[in-house]
Amino acid sequence: MNQPSTDYPFFFTWSAQKGHQPLDIRGGQGIYFDTADGNRWTDMASLVYQANLGHGHPRLIQAIRDQAADLCLTLPNAVYEAKQRLAEELLALAPDGFGKVFFTLGGSEATENALKIARLVTGRSKFLSRYRSYHGATMGALSLTGDYRRLPFEPGIPGVSHFYAPYCERLAGESSPVVQQAEYRNDVADRMAYEGKDKVAALFIESVTGANGVLVPPDGYLQYLRELCDANGVLMVCDEVLTGFGRTGKWFAYEHFDIVPDIITMGKALTGGYGTLGAVLVHDRIASHFDDAVLYAGLTHYAHPLGCAAALEAISVYRDEELVENAARLAPVLRAEMERIQDARPDRIRAVRAIGLFGGFVLDADKTELGALSAELDRRRVLTHLRTANQMLIVSPPLCITEAELREGLAMVAEAIDTSIPKTGP
Ligand SMILES: Cc1ncc(COP(=O)(O)O)c(C=O)c1O
Repeated sequence: MNQPSTDYPFFFTWSAQKGHQPLDIRGGQGIYFDTADGNRWTDMASLVYQANLGHGHPRLIQAIRDQAADLCLTLPNAVYEAKQRLAEELLALAPDGFGKVFFTLGGSEATENALKIARLVTGRSKFLSRYRSYHGATMGALSLTGDYRRLPFEPGIPGVSHFYAPYCERLAGESSPVVQQAEYRNDVADRMAYEGKDKVAALFIESVTGANGVLVPPDGYLQYLRELCDANGVLMVCDEVLTGFGRTGKWFAYEHFDIVPDIITMGKALTGGYGTLGAVLVHDRIASHFDDAVLYAGLTHYAHPLGCAAALEAISVYRDEELVENAARLAPVLRAEMERIQDARPDRIRAVRAIGLFGGFVLDADKTELGALSAELDRRRVLTHLRTANQMLIVSPPLCITEAELREGLAMVAEAIDTSIPKTGP
């Protein structure tokens, strides 16, 4: 679109309004979407990590139509089929012992309501979360967030303390992996002790850190956090908003690590992006607190029928098209291709990290070079997540991608890197 971005009658998110270049998306199919200027883009990002089912899915469109014809308007506390069935489906995906679902409109509200539930249940008011994390844009969720997006809003809600995510590459060459692991464990254990053992209500983590760098926890780390929480009566909340629904090759990323959280938050790909819905899954031992105590939480559009219908159909499509399995099957292809790309450009690609259909290149490039890379990706009509804040290019294609499409998409990314970031080494 050629109109100056400041002329639009709405805000663009996370950006200064001047100079923003929006895409005018008109539809799409599978991993491709079309823009008003007649271009076809390859979606190697799943938009903002919600389009796991791909674009233009006929079953999702039909399910939403059917639900709209059947029932749209209802009360937050009314009961209806889509709400009942979706809650049952979600609890069936969770570990044994999970008993209730709290519905929201998206991921930030899921974080927000997990915060409230943890405070109400424990009677404690402090929280631990990690640097290099994102938990949402509302004030509570932003206070938990451990990246630059928190800073303009400080002080956030009181009582939040951040600890370090195990980002062992940071110390590479300075100490052994064993020492590093011990350092990260000591950091969180100290933080919990010094904040007051009986003061901390919950510890929030992204099971695999998402936008802050595809940080996969080392063996034993999440189990250690689980033990620490148990020893201190602290609830463990796994934020699966980005990683849930197959992104890492399992339904939820925590499943890779042999732990059972107390609370699981989700959003984004819960509906494949076709509806606005988030959810907080709560273990029975916590949920039962509200049998007698009031749950001071609620939303006008709680469990909106259109969102519930979209999520129900999405879950059924994940199953029927074996999309989670496809992510697991293609994981080695993604990793091998990314490593091959790094091997060709070791001068400017410092590291690659990958799990499932979620991979990140750590680039050694300055702001100008990253700007050139962004322009080059646009020129080739490839959507990725390119972040100057941590010099990362992250790929997270829809889970319906084929092996050939994955190779092709990655080849375009490699060409864009090659064209825009000059060689500095052999
Ligand atoms: C890990 C994580 N949690 C929470 C959120 C917030 O979700 P939403 O933007 O749907 O409110 C996000 C969004 O990117 C996320 O990545």
